[in-house]
Amino acid sequence: MIKLGTVGTGWITEAFIEAAKLSGKLNLTAVYSRTDEKAKELAHKYHAAHYFSNLEEMAKSTEIEAVYIASPNSVHFEQTITFLKHKKHVICEKPIFSNPAELEIAYRTAEENGVYLFEAIRNIHTPNFHILKEKIGLAGNLRSAMLPYIQYSSRYDAFLRGENPNIFTSTFSGGALVDLGVYPLYLAIGLFGEPKSIAYTPVILSSGVDGSGTLLLEYQDFVCTILCSKISHSVMPCEIHGEKGTFVLEDAAPISEIKFIDSHTKESEILSVPQEEQNMVYECINIAEIIETRDDSQYEKLKEMSKIVLRVTEEARKQNNIVFGVER
Ligand SMILES: NC(=O)c1ccc[n+]([C@@H]2O[C@H](COP(=O)([O-])OP(=O)(O)OC[C@H]3O[C@@H](n4cnc5c(N)ncnc54)[C@H](OP(=O)(O)O)[C@@H]3O)[C@@H](O)[C@H]2O)c1
Repeated sequence: MIKLGTVGTGWITEAFIEAAKLSGKLNLTAVYSRTDEKAKELAHKYHAAHYFSNLEEMAKSTEIEAVYIASPNSVHFEQTITFLKHKKHVICEKPIFSNPAELEIAYRTAEENGVYLFEAIRNIHTPNFHILKEKIGLAGNLRSAMLPYIQYSSRYDAFLRGENPNIFTSTFSGGALVDLGVYPLYLAIGLFGEPKSIAYTPVILSSGVDGSGTLLLEYQDFVCTILCSKISHSVMPCEIHGEKGTFVLEDAAPISEIKFIDSHTKESEILSVPQEEQNMVYECINIAEIIETRDDSQYEKLKEMSKIVLRVTEEARKQNNIVFGVER
């Protein structure tokens, strides 16, 4: 079992702790919060033997071998570097960093210290993603894809009340594309590879980041459209259209169900398998196995995907003059 520490005390940290336990491969030994009280409370709730409110001390500790970071986006980079320098593997929440320059520095730091750095993204590790990747040829020549991730955020209510939730600010590297668009983007890149070109048309909020937007990914013979929004709601599934058939996915993450419809017979078939409700378990298992077996080949594949995703989101922001605080 890999000794695991966590950073951040939001609901997602608790979900990851539960997934880590379910994986049977990651053992929670320490938690960090900026306040002693919250760290102690979380450690108590999940039976972690150690808690910290000093990040450097936790990074130095021999009680952890890997750390899961779920702090606001703009904080990821500095915290990640701190742990990497102390030779701890890092699993950092999506979007991993604000831009590709930070990612390059962090991968180099990981390599220099003999540890791995992962972006925590749930959909590409699921059994249904692997099924989809294996079966994608059934659709024949792909012609279009529509991948929405549209989820009204309760934090938008706070934003409308005049508050400043982190995810709606450029200071904390927020916005719909980097927060939600990354799920369909990972899906597209995992299935179709790096696009030839991209174009992003966002709806920009008064805070300067995108509340929603449409991202076009241009490939050799088809275009993939990604819709993302934190300011409206949708029940639209994802679809991938080929000459021979169509895939209908219930969602871009965690890919709960995959249906294939034959273009000629119109007959449909369910290809997916039931997945664990706590679907972050799959990323926990895959990442732990890469660490345990020092699987450089799998690691390089994940690295390449994170690099492409960050290149695309940076280009999308550049096209629309969305500048993050860390870049000013
Ligand atoms: N994979 C998923 O499904 C999923 C879902 C939700 C979020 N996420 C990702 O998880 C990360 C955290 O998201 P969130 O919505 O939980 O963010 P958040 O509420 O803004 O912050 C998360 C935690 O970070 C700490 N924190 C808050 N402000 C900070 C600051 N200025 N400096 C340092 N630490 C600070 C807080 O913990 P303490 O007060 O205890 O230090 C807080 O509980 C994001 O990167 C997000 O994209 C992923």
